[in-house]
Amino acid sequence: MTIHIGAQKGEIAETVLMPGDPYRAKWAAETFLDDARCVNEVRGMLGFTGTWKGQPVTIQGSGMGMPSLSIYANELIRDYGAKTLIRIGSCGAMQNHVNIRDVILAMTASTLSTPSRGIFRELNYAPCADFDLLHAAHAAASAKGTPTHVGGIYSSDVFYDERPDLNEQMIRHGILGVEMEAAELYTLAARHGARALAVLTVSDHLITHEALPSEDRERSFGDMVEIALTAAFAS
Ligand code: HPA
Repeated sequence: MTIHIGAQKGEIAETVLMPGDPYRAKWAAETFLDDARCVNEVRGMLGFTGTWKGQPVTIQGSGMGMPSLSIYANELIRDYGAKTLIRIGSCGAMQNHVNIRDVILAMTASTLSTPSRGIFRELNYAPCADFDLLHAAHAAASAKGTPTHVGGIYSSDVFYDERPDLNEQMIRHGILGVEMEAAELYTLAARHGARALAVLTVSDHLITHEALPSEDRERSFGDMVEIALTAAFAS
């Protein structure tokens, strides 16, 4: 047990999928894993471990934002020995050619500040995805016929953003979408020798202001889970 995860040592798999929403973790575990059982209920941040095609997998909620994800990712990697961590979540599109329901595979994640900012001080560290996971996820998404984009995303600290000028700079520099967790996940994975990737579905559009209808959210989320699981065990 750790401060925020109630699982015993050995109850967390080396491969962990991390949705922001703990109820998505429950849905994904019940839908895609065999023999899934709840291994964490601390603070309602549900986590489940089961198997996918015979391989052990944990699906653990991360909460919203980098400070929350950082707590779970630190404990998963440092205390439970997680080796492959894949965020599955939603993002807002920042380019006209990116559409609602498309999948974005985050090659890099720009950010104003992560919980790791204090370490780097004046240095602009570039958090990046694990190439093998990225490559395998791209192949998995292509095989499913899911419209997919690979490139940089922006991990923001705020959902209700009072700095539209920052979004404008991100858009100008080709950033595909905005979410709130990947930069810290990539930074922590790099620091501790783990592999990380963020697989994101576009749920809203910052330019067109479209939004994914709620009835489509489950299917889009399911596609991400399948892409993430396929990528995790591709090599
Ligand atoms: N901003 C930040 N995070 C998000 C968004 C957004 O527009 N959409 C989904 N996650």
